[in-house]
Amino acid sequence: MQQKDKVVVIGAGALGLIALKQFKEDGFDVTGYESRPYVGGLWKDSSDNTISVHATTIFNTSKFRAAISDFPFPETADVYPTAAQMHDYLCSYADHFDLRRHINVNTRVKQILRENDRWNLTVEDVTSGKISTHYFDRLCVATGSFYTPRWPKLEGLEKFAGNVLHSIDFHGNDAFKDQNVLIIGMHATAQDVTNAISNSARHVYLSHRHGLTLLPRFNPKGEAFDTNAALPFFMLQSWFEANMPSLWIWLLDKILGKVSNAAYPDLPEEWGLRPAPSIAIATPIMADTIWPYLQSGFAEPVAAVKQITDSKTVELTDGRILHDIDTIMYCTGYHFNLPDSLVPKTDDRLSSFDPYPDGPGTIPYLYYNTYPLSTDPAVRNSLAFFGQGAAVYPGFVQYELAAMAVSQVWQGNKSLPNLATMKQWHAEHTANRAALAKKYNAPPDGTFYTALLPFKYFAWINETAGTGLFENMGGKLNGMFNLKTWSLWWNDRELYKLLRAGIMSPTVFRVFEAGGRRSFGWDESKKRLRRDNEVYERAVRAKREELGLDVDTGKPVEAKKEL
Ligand SMILES: Cc1cc2nc3c(=O)[nH]c(=O)nc-3n(C[C@H](O)[C@H](O)[C@H](O)COP(=O)(O)OP(=O)(O)OC[C@H]3O[C@@H](n4cnc5c(N)ncnc54)[C@H](O)[C@@H]3O)c2cc1C
Ligand SMILES: NC(=O)c1ccc[n+]([C@@H]2O[C@H](COP(=O)([O-])OP(=O)(O)OC[C@H]3O[C@@H](n4cnc5c(N)ncnc54)[C@H](OP(=O)(O)O)[C@@H]3O)[C@@H](O)[C@H]2O)c1
Ligand SMILES: *[C@@H]1O[C@H](CO)[C@@H](O)[C@H](O)[C@H]1NC(C)=O
Ligand SMILES: *[C@@H]1O[C@H](CO)[C@@H](O)[C@H](O)[C@H]1NC(C)=O
Ligand SMILES: *[C@@H]1O[C@H](CO)[C@@H](O)[C@H](O)[C@H]1NC(C)=O
Ligand SMILES: *[C@@H]1O[C@H](CO)[C@@H](O)[C@H](O)[C@H]1NC(C)=O
Repeated sequence: MQQKDKVVVIGAGALGLIALKQFKEDGFDVTGYESRPYVGGLWKDSSDNTISVHATTIFNTSKFRAAISDFPFPETADVYPTAAQMHDYLCSYADHFDLRRHINVNTRVKQILRENDRWNLTVEDVTSGKISTHYFDRLCVATGSFYTPRWPKLEGLEKFAGNVLHSIDFHGNDAFKDQNVLIIGMHATAQDVTNAISNSARHVYLSHRHGLTLLPRFNPKGEAFDTNAALPFFMLQSWFEANMPSLWIWLLDKILGKVSNAAYPDLPEEWGLRPAPSIAIATPIMADTIWPYLQSGFAEPVAAVKQITDSKTVELTDGRILHDIDTIMYCTGYHFNLPDSLVPKTDDRLSSFDPYPDGPGTIPYLYYNTYPLSTDPAVRNSLAFFGQGAAVYPGFVQYELAAMAVSQVWQGNKSLPNLATMKQWHAEHTANRAALAKKYNAPPDGTFYTALLPFKYFAWINETAGTGLFENMGGKLNGMFNLKTWSLWWNDRELYKLLRAGIMSPTVFRVFEAGGRRSFGWDESKKRLRRDNEVYERAVRAKREELGLDVDTGKPVEAKKEL
């Protein structure tokens, strides 16, 4: 690489910040554009029609797993950070790594052209309306995943006299006073909205098509649910997914079903939540927020909508009639897509690099949902889309690893496979998704995640970012036959233990030197892993105290006294 290649990152949400920091660290000359007046993206509650969290949103994985690998959350943040804490965290990340001076806020990218082997960006200063053009060698689009609100058609909606809206346009919490609200969809946003209107609305119906797995944020011992799955589990999952994917899905469904049953036993049958669909086609929710409202009867899961029969009446697919509905709110989520202004165009404008040539909500035409499948190798090596895909893994570290991988490719240290191989991956991936949808009966127009990447993604990332994790800690039978694992055990018992038995904090991705991204080295890694585990232990003890459990064992205190 020419060390001073000019890289532009569009969007300064979590992913844009992470990407910018990575490219900066690797010596690129970086520029960021952000149309909002602030960095941190959707984690600040916006009151306009752009997508954002609600003030009541809580992050769905623990801060111990969700952090960026070289920037742990402050100890004062909740175990599951609130939206405001998340936004603060991203702002301090920008400050800590001195990113702000590279980022132009209030600046919207209006057009992207590929000209003379460079990227020509037209940007608008949102406050003054001034337009300018700028050139870059490499382009990273990190403008967010959720773009087109899903508005599934409801039969007979034209007869409905009440209020109809999508959650993207919902901001207040005192709206819907004394109303009966019918929410379409029962997932994360439905939960947040139910919470937000719980002081004003009279009753909430949550209409869903096929059940849902409810999970608790904490296990009965007061531990965050995701901290139990440590490095050996990750290695096991990687091995199983590569070798026996169906068995792995079956196993996960069993485990999650068991956890769900234990935390939320005896759900009323008329809610229709169980049996829940497989994890292969539907994401569970962390249900702590909605549970009290389900228990009190304020919110009630019901079947899918068959049709609207008159101005206030709705018929469900199980024959039940809902009367006196005042508002219908779609909490049906979003299709992944990019606005036309962010689709890079070629010089001749005949062909573009639209990652969604088949329309919103389809599997993007990208390698590992990141790299374009363009016939021009210069384009493949200078354009990356972030946030168009994800593996089931907590928090931000997977995007950070993706940024490391892209940066390695752009630096010329690693290379992408040839176009045929990239296309073949895409074809196989698309076929696999379709086969899963068929096997597990996913509704054709639903949340069957077009963006979901198989765990194999981590193997590609391992190699391209250069994390050293697989070759040092993985292999058959969880490293049992891995000489490097044994050598680590022999040379540094403490580091070995922290990695194998500690929580899998994102620090683990920076321990080994593998000819890729910057590593901490063993000593610094130990220091950080020790800290990660100590903070975790303290939080567990505090939670146990709050729950009236024995702080050491997590068992009920009475049980201990009897001993
Ligand atoms: C309500 C909600 C809750 C979520 N909760 C979780 C969770 O609990 N756990 C989890 O892992 N994930 C969660 N997510 C997923 C979320 O997408 C990621 O956590 C992450 O914040 C996404 O960051 P991003 O940078 O991709 O997107 P964003 O934060 O949306 O940032 C994109 C930025 O690009 C800017 N932009 C867009 N167009 C332009 C343009 N033309 N020019 C300049 N700038 C532009 C936008 O203004 C925005 O600031 C949630 C998503 C939503 C919507
Ligand atoms: N941290 C948090 O607490 C939090 C809060 C809000 C949002 N988020 C995230 O933000 C994203 C958007 O969340 P979201 O809840 O708005 O959307 P979502 O997760 O995509 O869920 C959409 C819901 O609508 C249903 N639905 C979709 N199409 C439908 C149709 N045609 N007919 C009937 N029902 C339909 C889905 O059911 P099917 O399964 O049947 O399709 C699902 O219940 C998600 O990634 C979510 O994880 C997180
Ligand atoms: C870059 O794009 C702008 C806007 O379309 C255009 O006016 C300008 O001529 C382009 N630059 C070059 C060198 O073609
Ligand atoms: C958390 O939310 C993200 C994106 O919104 C989703 O992909 C992921 O599956 C969720 N995780 C859990 C544990 O609910
Ligand atoms: C991980 O990457 C290294 C190269 O950095 C490679 O030797 C190893 O085989 C990779 N492991 C997997 C599981 O892909
Ligand atoms: C990657 O490439 C850059 C630029 O050529 C070089 O400075 C750096 O040392 C390389 N890193 C690795 C790990 O090979």
